[in-house]
Amino acid sequence: MKLSGRIARLKPSATLSINAKANALKRSGVGIINFGIGEPGFDTPENIGNAAMQSIRSGQTRYTAVGGIDELKDAVCTTIKADYGLSYGRENVLVSCGGKHALYNLFMTLLDPGDEVIVPSPYWVSYPDMIELANAKPVIVPCTEKDAFMLQAEDLERAITPNTRLLILNSPSNPTGKYYGPDKLKALAKVLLRHENVLIASDDIYYRILFGGRKWVSLGMVEEKLRGRIFIINGVSKSYCMTGWRIGYLIGDPMVIKAATDFQSQVTSNPSSVSQWASVEALTGDQKSAVEMAQTFEKRCKLVMERISGLPEVTCTEPDGTFYVFPDFSGHFGKKFAGRTINGSLDLADFLMEEAHVAVVPGEAFGEDNCIRLSYAVSMEQIEQGFDAVKKALNKLAR
Ligand SMILES: Cc1ncc(COP(=O)(O)O)c(C=O)c1O
Repeated sequence: MKLSGRIARLKPSATLSINAKANALKRSGVGIINFGIGEPGFDTPENIGNAAMQSIRSGQTRYTAVGGIDELKDAVCTTIKADYGLSYGRENVLVSCGGKHALYNLFMTLLDPGDEVIVPSPYWVSYPDMIELANAKPVIVPCTEKDAFMLQAEDLERAITPNTRLLILNSPSNPTGKYYGPDKLKALAKVLLRHENVLIASDDIYYRILFGGRKWVSLGMVEEKLRGRIFIINGVSKSYCMTGWRIGYLIGDPMVIKAATDFQSQVTSNPSSVSQWASVEALTGDQKSAVEMAQTFEKRCKLVMERISGLPEVTCTEPDGTFYVFPDFSGHFGKKFAGRTINGSLDLADFLMEEAHVAVVPGEAFGEDNCIRLSYAVSMEQIEQGFDAVKKALNKLAR
């Protein structure tokens, strides 16, 4: 059957397909350590689950307003005021089915054919495909390990053309875990102030998972004059172990939010009513488990960095947050095992899955083939076991 050109060009999400491969091996009885997971491995906190059950019992199970219930919009505004120091009202908020849906709504609302979107690389796997689905052009700007994989002001300046409509900034980043501190943001803001037609999508979905006492900061907090051009993408998935509940939000200019809400009204209508009530509790209830989760990830990150430093010919930029790390394994490229040569991150990921029974995501999916993404959303014991197995497998490779 003929598929549309749009769908024929679409690449399936690499992270989801690695998970599927790992699960298939698991089902066949092979014990897999999954460093490929893109979600916290904890249960949703009990108070949030209870709020969901209460909402069902009290009959909150019908369509809601397309753009989300007022209670959740208010909770989002209160949270953003507390965490960003920025004031928004209900007219600035659209609640969608996850951060991914919030991004897609934004792209579909803002982008026309010929529009360019600047995507610093390494990037989250879905950005380029979502931009193409909106018939626009992703302009990939490579960022090097020397610069901790972060966008430099001069590279941003060079990438901007009269067709540039949007810049995507993801901090802290999936896959590198790097976060843009105030100085880096001010340098980027200086460039953006010179190009008033460029809008900014600030994907802050991991903002609660920061290490080393880092304080949250984003572009709109360091440069007031940019605030009207910034769209914040955030949600409850990563901060509250609520990936399956599918609640994210888009915050920004009311005219765009109204248009994006109209778009959502024709595609999905409202996100799940029960998930919305659960999210009200997540944002307004006890924050203890969210704080503890970030502390747990910080401990695991320390262990992961220690274990990476013990791997031969592997280098790594230390993450500032998230639960990902993005080490460079290119020192092993060109090596062989059982007649097979490791030519890039895809070969390496396959080799580690087969030889070490460890699932990782090839860096190619994030635009950087020298690296692989490891997620430490698994226990300390599994991290130890996984790295033991990776080290053993790497030692089998030879030139
Ligand atoms: C950088 C980034 N943005 C957005 C999302 C989407 O999150 P959600 O599960 O809320 O759709 C993800 C999920 O992996 C992500 O890594």
